[in-house]
Amino acid sequence: MRTAVYPGSFDPITMGHIDIIMRSRAVADRLIVAVLANPQKKPLFSIEERVLQVKKAVSGMKNVSVQHFEGLLVNFARHVSADVIIRGLRAMSDFEAEFQMSLLNKRLRPGTETVFLISAEPYTYLSSSAIKEIIRGGASGKGLVPPHVEEELKKRLYTGTGIFESTR
Ligand code: PNS
Repeated sequence: MRTAVYPGSFDPITMGHIDIIMRSRAVADRLIVAVLANPQKKPLFSIEERVLQVKKAVSGMKNVSVQHFEGLLVNFARHVSADVIIRGLRAMSDFEAEFQMSLLNKRLRPGTETVFLISAEPYTYLSSSAIKEIIRGGASGKGLVPPHVEEELKKRLYTGTGIFESTR
């Protein structure tokens, strides 16, 4: 039984993340989505909110669970007996940071392997930051984030002063 960890900030989870979660079944029997509780990153959503959003998004997916973690990812991976870390790669611009993180994680915990899944084409330009701007601007997040996440983003970000309103 191979356990993998899919770590991230998930602020918020997008359809790009969900695509990676579904495809990671090809390399792991059991997947733990690990949400980083890092207040230094000043996330829009609290750790409790992000974990709940991810749980709703993966509900019904077999062998996928959600936990939060603090501190080093390799310590969390050891704690849950996972040797494999899954990361999505959207473009070459992701590569440098991912390359460094993968080598650091391996140095910190030899035996840890990072498996990179190339993002599906419709999500290569999608990021949690971009979706926040889209919703803040009053546009639709349909197909980019799950409906429950779009609702929460609207409540938190859309002030009614988006471009469509202000040009009326
Ligand atoms: O969604 P993100 O923000 O790209 O995810 C980054 C994440 C959470 C995978 C990364 O920041 C992380 O693992 N942080 C925990 C601290 C750590 O172990 N860093 C790597 C070694 S320095």
